[in-house]
Order: sequence, then structure tokens, then C-alpha cells
Amino acid sequence: MNKLSWVLASAPLLFACSQPADNTTTTESKPASAQHTEQKSTMASGTDYHSFSNPDAVRVTHLDLDLTADFDNRELTGTVTLDFDRIQPDADTLIVDTRALDIKQVTANGKAVEFTLGEEDENLGSPLSIALPESASAVTIDYVTSPDASGVQWLTPAQTQGKEHPFLFTQAQAIHARSFIPLQDSPQVRVTYDARIHTPADLLAVMSASNDPDTPRDGDYSFTMPQPVPSYLIALAIGHLEFKPMGERTGVYAEPEILDAAAAEFEDTESMLELTEKTYGPYSWDRYDLLILPPSFPFGGMENPRLSFITPTVIAGDKSLVSLIAHELAHSWSGNTVTNATWRDLWLNEGFTTYLTYRIMEMLYGTDRFNMEAVLGYQSLEADIAALPANDEILAVDLRGRNPDDVFSDIPYEKGALFLRELEQKVGRDNFDAFLMQYFKHFAFQSITTDTFMAYLEDTLLKQYPDRLDKQRIEEWVLKPGIPDGAPVPASDAFDKVDSQRTAWLNGDKPAADIKTVNWTTHEWLYFLNNMPSSLSAAQLKDLDSAFDLTNSHNNEIAHSWLMIAVQNEYKPAWPRLHDYLVEIGRNKLVKPLYRALSQTPEGKAFAKKAFEEAKPGYHPLTVHANEGFVED
Ligand code: BES
Ligand code: ZN
Repeated sequence: MNKLSWVLASAPLLFACSQPADNTTTTESKPASAQHTEQKSTMASGTDYHSFSNPDAVRVTHLDLDLTADFDNRELTGTVTLDFDRIQPDADTLIVDTRALDIKQVTANGKAVEFTLGEEDENLGSPLSIALPESASAVTIDYVTSPDASGVQWLTPAQTQGKEHPFLFTQAQAIHARSFIPLQDSPQVRVTYDARIHTPADLLAVMSASNDPDTPRDGDYSFTMPQPVPSYLIALAIGHLEFKPMGERTGVYAEPEILDAAAAEFEDTESMLELTEKTYGPYSWDRYDLLILPPSFPFGGMENPRLSFITPTVIAGDKSLVSLIAHELAHSWSGNTVTNATWRDLWLNEGFTTYLTYRIMEMLYGTDRFNMEAVLGYQSLEADIAALPANDEILAVDLRGRNPDDVFSDIPYEKGALFLRELEQKVGRDNFDAFLMQYFKHFAFQSITTDTFMAYLEDTLLKQYPDRLDKQRIEEWVLKPGIPDGAPVPASDAFDKVDSQRTAWLNGDKPAADIKTVNWTTHEWLYFLNNMPSSLSAAQLKDLDSAFDLTNSHNNEIAHSWLMIAVQNEYKPAWPRLHDYLVEIGRNKLVKPLYRALSQTPEGKAFAKKAFEEAKPGYHPLTVHANEGFVED
């Protein structure tokens, strides 16, 4: 067995969707989720179980988009031209992924060609098979998106800051690019792209590509992305946007109403960029800008290259939640430059990025803040481990037959980061930094599997430090559930002080008003609240709320922690705020735990149902999908 199949048995890939080049078996058009259940025991590293496409026969290398945003009908209409290489010289079919797309026509060399849309799979959409004329090296697909496209959110003016103009944004990760572009929607396929986007004249379009802040606002915008990117990093947003520079290479796009607040909150972005370059090597993407989205954005952030998409819920006024920016920026190295080859390998993106985030935060704001953030991350990981089935606690998780959206947890993030932290502690920080810098260089602009990473680790750090690292321990981290015994445990002195104050208050030694909170940062507040016992008395809740007005906290993370307590203890004075919070915010990480907690009691569920019905028209499809189960009868 060679090193690349270090971990997984090299069983025949009978039911693979998109297979590595050295494989000769074929998929046919059987829906992938059906294939997966039949073949549970022979998962193959490098096989993308979430794409129908055939990049090992015909590989798309470049795409050219020409799309019009029709806000009245909530449709993107137009064409995409896919340039491809024939990896197998006699290949005569290009298979691309689609989801709820209306395919009007496919042409090659100006002539219509035959195409067939396969059976729809609930998670994966439908394969589009295109018959390739021998001479063709590109095809053009005419298509229209569905108003319910899973990767596009169309917002009415009422759902924006300014309330006057509509807004659109896409969110492609993990497998939603296919709902707005027919393409080979696998992170193993990298493409360069050009795009022309037509919008109402008073709106600006921006993409994960070259953006010109001074472009005339005329509804006709052109973009180019010269570096090859995986499909999940193709992104578009359209809105009443303005731009403000923050540094030489950094700036913010936002609606004018929040532009200044965003630029002030994120003013350290340029320093983050410089520090990260210094430690991990040059930034490969030219500019690094932020786009602030409306509050329905389902994530905290998304690392779309050159232009991270950011939730407005982190604009707290005191930079307390800017680790999100460090995170999305860090993806420019871990994720966008070195990319996970399949969704099983997501931890290579998110675990490395979480590790880098901690390091950037420490370099910029010091060790105390780093320690606090690391403890909060660790506690969040512990909570997930307590709740998840063992198989989902494995870094290289088996996602066959599953929707990657349904397996979102702290495992790839915090467990991945903790693994790297252990490697760092064993070989020394400077040595580990040198290793990471070399890793980013070695695999630049490639998509790699967990197995490739482990083989690389074996060739490099394991050989260099045979007395400090061993393969079995690494396998335990990557292939086994839970946290290995003896793993690093973060600690914070500041939090120890919070613990003693909380204990004194819980023991009745002092009223809440006497807890010394003047110098507390957001992190201390979060730690204070997140570690309350599961049951508090009505008097205790009232004491806390009267002393600190937690129900009206303007910090969305603190409000979240307090509202969780309010749900668990049925503290009704906070429920009107809870209702507004659920209706105004669509960031899934903030609302899902609240819906889950509310669904535990009949009264909570009825309340959740009412809020959900009101919020639903404004929620992103992903947030609807993630929470509707909690409010069903
Ligand atoms: N790339 C992720 C978001 C993502 C992951 C979307 C998997 C779809 C599938 C992004 O970088 C991210 O991790 N966002 C986090 C940020 C947080 C950990 C700082 C979020 O949105 O909460
Ligand atoms: Zn991330």
C-alpha cells in the first residue's frame, strides 16, 4: 500500500462519483446517496461523494459567466461557457452538477449539442451530461436559476439596512454553487473565471475576483479571477454598496448606513494581513476586502477569495468579535491556497484556519486574549463532543450519503486546531511555523486529501522529529472520535477570576451588582454566562438582569449566551428580546441553539414556531433547512 492510501483500504471504488485519475471504474448515473448506503465499508480517499461530475475524464479549467440579476422574478439568467481539457483523450461526455436549474440550451462551436439531465438526488441535485463534439474544447450553457436556489438569497429592500434597494448574495460552500452555475462542483476542480454581471443601474455587483471600487455604477460589471479556485469559492453579491479603504490592500464594501462602523470595527485587518504573511508566507490573492452582508447571512463569515463575506452581527463597537476576520483572512492560506479535496477533508480547511486564527489573535492582541478565546473554543468543542455521535467526532468524517450542511460542528474547527496545537507544542513553535509555511508553499493551488497531508507529515515533521512525534498518535487524532488523552488543554487566568466571582454570587455571598465587571471583556462575559449551572432561580435571573441589563445587550454573542439561559430557565422577561433576536438575525450559529433549546418544551416550541414563521421569509434557505425540524409538530 502506498503512502497516499495510508489510512483507508484501497478497496475498488465501485460506487464513486468523481474518482481520482488512477481509477478506471465508472459511476454511471446512479444517485450518489443510493450508492453510498450500498457501499458503506469501502470509502475511498480522494473520491468526492458529493459531485456527479467527471473531472478525471473531462476537466473544466476556466469559466466565463454572463448573468443578469432579475430581482422581480428572483432569477439569474444567462450563460456560462466552460473551457475544458480532455484528460482521457477519447472522452465524449462532460458531466456537470446542477441543482434546480432550468437548462435552456447547450452549444459547442456555435451549434446546439445534446444534453441530458439525470435523476435528481435530494442532496446532490442532478447531473447534466453533455455530448461533446470531437473538435470542441468549450461548451456554452444557457440557463435560469430557480427563485428558491439553495445557494442564492434574494432580499427585499425591507431586509436591508437602507430599506430602499434589494440585495442578492450567493453562498456556495459546500455544494451550492451548482444551484447558480452548472459546473463541476467538486473542490478538486479548480477554475479561473471571468464574469459579466448585469444589475439594476443603481446597484453594485461584487465578486470573489478583481473588484474595482471606482467602477462606474451603470449596472454592467466585469470581473476576472486569474488564480484557479474551487467552485465553492465562486461568489457574487449585488446591493446598494459603497467602498471604504482600511489600508493599502484592505477595504470594506457595505451599505452606506454601516460602512463607517464596519471600517472602524475592522481597522486591524491590514495588520492581520501583514502578520499572517510574516509568519506563513506571502498573500497570494492581491487585495483583501470585506463585504458586510445583511443580518440574514447564514454564516459568520465566508472566505470568498479577495472578498470575504461577513455577517454584520460581529460589529460590536469594541472589536471584541474580530477573530472572525482573522479566521476568514487565514483561509487565504488554509483553504483557498491549499484546499480540501473532498468534504471529508474539511478539517484541513477549518482546523488549520482555526489554528491560524488563534495565532493571529495572539500576535495582534496578546496572550491573555488568546488564552480566553482558546478556552471558549475548547468548551464549545467539549459541548459538541458530548452531543455528537462518535462517528461525527472523527476529523476525517465519513459523509457518504449525507448533506455536508447537516454535519456542521466544532470538530473540524476546534479539534483540528487542537491537533495542530499539540504538534506545535511537541516540535516547538518556530519549527512548526516553518513547517506550515513550507506546507502552504508545497501544496499551493492544489486540492489535497487528509491522506496526502498525513503522508506529507510523515515525510517531513515525523522524519525530522522521530523522538517527539509518532504516527499512531497522529492517526488517533485524525481517525478516532473524541479528544486523545493528554491533548493540550487551554487555560486562562482571567477566567479563573471570573470563576471565583461567579461562585461567590451563586453561593449568595454577594449580589450581582457587587461582581467586579468593570474591566470585563466580551470574552469574560461569555465565560461567566456559559458556565452557569443549568438551573437558576427566578430571583437569581432577575438579580443578574437588573445589575447588567443582559436582555438588552448590544453584543450579539453575549445576548446569545444570555438568551440561552433565559430559554433554559424560562425567564420570560427576556422572551420579547428573544423573539426579536430570532427574527432579526439569520446567522445559524446564533439562532440554531436557541431553536433547539426552545423545542424542548411545548411552550417553548409554540413560541419558537411563531418566531420562525415570522422570520422565515427573511431567512436564508440554509437557516430554514437547519431549523425547520425544531418547530414542526
Ligand atoms: N468556510 C466557513 C463557512 C462554511 C463552512 C460554510 C462549511 C459552509 C460549509 C467559514 O470560514 C467559517 O468557518 N465561518 C465560521 C467562522 C467562525 C468559526 C469564526 C462561521 O460562520 O461561524
Ligand atoms: Zn472557516
